[in-house]
Amino acid sequence: MDAKHLLEIKNLHIGFKNDEGVTPTIKDVNIHIDEGEIVTIVGESGSGKSVTVRSILKLIPSPPAIYTQGEILFKGQNILDMQENEIRALRGSEISMVFQDPMIALNPVFTIGQQMENIYLYQGASSTHARLSKKKSILKQEARDRSIYLLEKMSLPNPENLLKMYPFELSGGMKQRVIIAMALIKTPKLLLADEPGTSLDVTVQASINKELKRLVEEEHIAMFFITHNLGVAKQLGKRTYVMKLGEVVEEGLSEDVFLNPKTDYTKHLLDVLPKII
Ligand SMILES: Nc1ncnc2c1ncn2[C@@H]1O[C@H](COP(=O)(O)OP(=O)(O)OP(=O)(O)O)[C@@H](O)[C@H]1O
Ligand SMILES: [Mg+2]
Repeated sequence: MDAKHLLEIKNLHIGFKNDEGVTPTIKDVNIHIDEGEIVTIVGESGSGKSVTVRSILKLIPSPPAIYTQGEILFKGQNILDMQENEIRALRGSEISMVFQDPMIALNPVFTIGQQMENIYLYQGASSTHARLSKKKSILKQEARDRSIYLLEKMSLPNPENLLKMYPFELSGGMKQRVIIAMALIKTPKLLLADEPGTSLDVTVQASINKELKRLVEEEHIAMFFITHNLGVAKQLGKRTYVMKLGEVVEEGLSEDVFLNPKTDYTKHLLDVLPKII
């Protein structure tokens, strides 16, 4: 098996089932990412960015989604062939995701500390092993130390106190920072960031992105970052993929893609999409 990339999406086709049949939505997409690499995906609304990235963890239920063709190789293993329990073992531990809407990721009835501890102790296959070989009190202390470390790295003041707070007590920017810390608690190999923070003020968004980039680089975590903002794409990712109507129409080093776009579509995107950093 070809395992030279951390993740490789090969000839992926996804359709959506409806009354008339299956609408082809993702068409022959080829995307890869290496360990520790940051890659951005840009494209207009409806171009298939979220469907592509969510397909990596099979987050779109099938049906309506039909994976008609292709492979998604993670460390050389095809995720599309995996059983639900194998995928669950990857989710949150080896591959983690940050969504656009912070409220989906946070549970209103538990404190931030309880939620972070829960992920640390119980998510992913490695947890089972750790649970069997380590005392619970040691794991709880590890969870607490790692939570405080990450919250601090995300520029959240007084993390010890924050662990005792409930989501409703936090501002939008704080919630987004907490969600990123949660997604990184198990030190995943790959983070999928689908337009995090788009509902926030642009300056808050910019500082969150900067902290996120620094953190994944320090911990050598690979990241797919989806954005509408070409300034952010250029600044964050070494490489960029441009999507249009379910296809990748351009790819390359971010500075090449944005300074010397090869396709008229990318030139058009440069005209219409925001470039604020
Ligand atoms: N559950 C679904 N059922 C049917 N069609 C869907 C479903 N989810 C997405 N689609 C379709 O797939 C296409 C791609 O959607 P996707 O959400 O990936 O776009 P996007 O590039 O992420 O857009 P945005 O920038 O607005 O988030 C769209 O035409 C959308 O209508
Ligand atoms: Mg989307």
